Amino acid sequence: MSKLLELDHVTKLYPVGGLFSRQSIKAVNDVSFSLDADKPEIFAIVGESGSGKSTMAKMMLGNEVPNSGRLVFDGTDISTIRNRSQREAFMARVQPVFQNPFEAFNPLTRVDAYLFGTAHRFAGANNQAEKERVCDEALQRVGLSMAEIKGRFSHELSGGQLQRVAVARALIPSPKLIVADEPVSMVDASLRMSIVNLFRSLRDELKVSIIYITHDLATAYYISDRVIIMQKGVVIESGDARAVLDNPTHPYSIALKNAVLPPDPRAASAAIRLRSAAAAG
Ligand SMILES: Nc1ncnc2c1ncn2[C@@H]1O[C@H](COP(=O)(O)OP(=O)(O)OP(=O)(O)O)[C@@H](O)[C@H]1O
Ligand SMILES: [Mg+2]
Repeated sequence: MSKLLELDHVTKLYPVGGLFSRQSIKAVNDVSFSLDADKPEIFAIVGESGSGKSTMAKMMLGNEVPNSGRLVFDGTDISTIRNRSQREAFMARVQPVFQNPFEAFNPLTRVDAYLFGTAHRFAGANNQAEKERVCDEALQRVGLSMAEIKGRFSHELSGGQLQRVAVARALIPSPKLIVADEPVSMVDASLRMSIVNLFRSLRDELKVSIIYITHDLATAYYISDRVIIMQKGVVIESGDARAVLDNPTHPYSIALKNAVLPPDPRAASAAIRLRSAAAAG
């Protein structure tokens, strides 16, 4: 089976302690896993702050290079992507969604301008009618429409709406992989599940694989097919999401789970509701 993405003993060091220091920390330490090309899935990377999640995302997006090991996307070592055309081709197939949609969109630029730019650059839309058609199709996928967005600025939309626009924009190039780094942590709790469910529908209907980075075990449990749990750059647990999150074996994962799912039955009831919803859906 061919691989969509393969991480092979990936390590990323960052220098610490100033300019002349030779010390470094292993932000990501010897991580290996792969996603199959013909089996779209939601792959969660879970861990507390500083565990290396965003560093992983940056390497998968080609924005950081590993000190050792390789990241191979669809047969190409990401670190060998050099010229502009290779970079554009890569970006069309691997798209990011970031944590804070209000940072991703300049407040002085109309939101639709971003979508039109992406439609022009990655979907070959050359005239206004074509741009609007391409963007409307992507917006419909995320439960919005061109009519709702046209001419609006980011501050005129809610965080949840704006994050949907960010997902729509990511969909315009028809990517094979979306790397979403904490995509719901800035979104109101009441809207989180709708974004998370959106990822599911993208997997099922568009066959897009999704790297879902989060420190939130509940949503990871709810949507992921597989999960890795990271601590200080190291993968300490991995496998089928339900199996790992139901029965964590590493003390760190047990602690992480207990921190999220307290033994208090009232507090746990929300988590149990999530679980039964997951089991039913
Ligand atoms: N550009 C950088 N220079 C130096 N150190 C860095 C850099 N980026 C990250 N680090 C360090 O690498 C480690 C991993 O950081 P990373 O941002 O990947 O963690 P994270 O899991 O995404 O955390 P969070 O949940 O807070 O977003 C941390 O110790 C961080 O301080
Ligand atoms: Mg991060």
